[in-house]
Amino acid sequence: MDKKMLVVYYSWSNGNTEKIAEQLADACGADICRIETIEPYPSDYDETVEQVHREVDAGYEPAIEALEFDPSGYDVIAVGTPTWWYTMAPAVKTFMGSVDWAGKTIVAFATNGGWEGSTLDDIESAVAGATAGPSLAIQFDSTGGSRQITPQQQVDNWIERVQTL
Ligand SMILES: Cc1cc2nc3c(=O)[nH]c(=O)nc-3n(C[C@H](O)[C@H](O)[C@H](O)COP(=O)(O)O)c2cc1C
Repeated sequence: MDKKMLVVYYSWSNGNTEKIAEQLADACGADICRIETIEPYPSDYDETVEQVHREVDAGYEPAIEALEFDPSGYDVIAVGTPTWWYTMAPAVKTFMGSVDWAGKTIVAFATNGGWEGSTLDDIESAVAGATAGPSLAIQFDSTGGSRQITPQQQVDNWIERVQTL
């Protein structure tokens, strides 16, 4: 692709979202960086699920570390998140609000355990002035594990569409 592309992702459980982010970045020759919260979530899965439930209900946006790359220098920004309580992870919400999206193309992708909710729409709604490119929800197993349910061919087809942007 002629345009400059950055893949920004958050991943917490098993690296599911990281795996998709790396495939996309490799295929598109894009820069890639990971969002990290300054305060880590509890190491206990269920505690994190409960904490995040409260955060999502409150619209909480946790502080995040500075990114390795400055999004303002890119034409296409792909944003990847695990689905957390039917939407993007709070740290991704923080990131979305930190970028001037005018004139950019957004490529949203979200992994989930079977309940994708409104995650992709929520990302695309948070980008005033941007154009939405192809988006994809990728299902992994319903126990929060790393087994990919969405056929890899669907992921590859989506990556090919992003390559044509
Ligand atoms: C706090 C929390 C909330 C979650 N909420 C949902 C949900 O609403 N719907 C769903 O399908 N999966 C949900 N999951 C499962 C993750 O979306 C899924 O395992 C994802 O692929 C993890 O990606 P990661 O390994 O990149 O963190 C949740 C997981 C966590 C930890």
